Amino acid sequence: MAYETIEVEPLAGSIGAEIAGVDLSKPLSNRQSDEVYRAFLEYSVVFFRDQDLSPEQEIAAGRVFGEPYSIPFVKPMDGYPELIDIIKEPEDVKMYNFGGRWHHDVSFQEEPAKGALLYALEAPKWGGDTVFASMYAAYETLSDGMKALLEPLVGLHSGRNSYGASGKFVGGANSSRSMQIENTAEGDAVMEHPVVRTHPETGRKCLFVNQNYTVGIKGMEEREARPILDFLLEHATRDEFTCRFRWRSGSVAVWDNRAAMHHAINDYDGARRHMRRVTLKGDRPFREQPSAGAE
Ligand code: SIN
Repeated sequence: MAYETIEVEPLAGSIGAEIAGVDLSKPLSNRQSDEVYRAFLEYSVVFFRDQDLSPEQEIAAGRVFGEPYSIPFVKPMDGYPELIDIIKEPEDVKMYNFGGRWHHDVSFQEEPAKGALLYALEAPKWGGDTVFASMYAAYETLSDGMKALLEPLVGLHSGRNSYGASGKFVGGANSSRSMQIENTAEGDAVMEHPVVRTHPETGRKCLFVNQNYTVGIKGMEEREARPILDFLLEHATRDEFTCRFRWRSGSVAVWDNRAAMHHAINDYDGARRHMRRVTLKGDRPFREQPSAGAE
């Protein structure tokens, strides 16, 4: 179906499109909002340029795509529990950057985020791009044999390597002085999600494992699970399943966290990058579309 109230320019073959003709600081008409949402589902990540958003306007823009909520472990912006600032200062050199490994946001939660809207307040002159990978393309290009093998598998997800009692941010290590990240025993919890999930709105299947938070496969030894996860991650991040977004101050990305993974490239030591994210409440991943009338 064509778009009539917005311009949509695909960015790559499997994922991503840039949308023009939208000012996210103002309420969108019903038609525009429906079309923007349709593009979000179609392309799994959509981008907007030259936006100027106050915190309130960013939260309102987030509502076009879902329900903003407060995520654990990362201290939100004062007065705005739904917003987190993602900052790397010029002094933060040779240090892990937030979101720097392939991940689905908060996949360690029982109901991982539906998506997120990320707004660039200050982008480096070069570098700090974000890369997205289509987990539809990743699933759909597997062989029937591999699909059958994966179908019943349950992935184990945990924030332990990041937010757990001995995670990488403990004692302020690996995080910018401009961000406050909590490490607690709660961060060590493990959550189970199907390795192949069905998207609740498109009905398409997608892979749901990632580098940051998928720590194993239920019922398997580490030495059995690791090669499967390593293969899936290597496969899912093939260039042709990805798009790469070059930020400018005022750019916005909105991704569908159910159908895409992402990571931020850490190649701009010495420059400042300041992003603000509103995260959208998700639901529990499931394997199959429930049939009509099922309990
Ligand atoms: C994130 O994972 O939300 C951060 C992505 C980015 O900073 O580009």
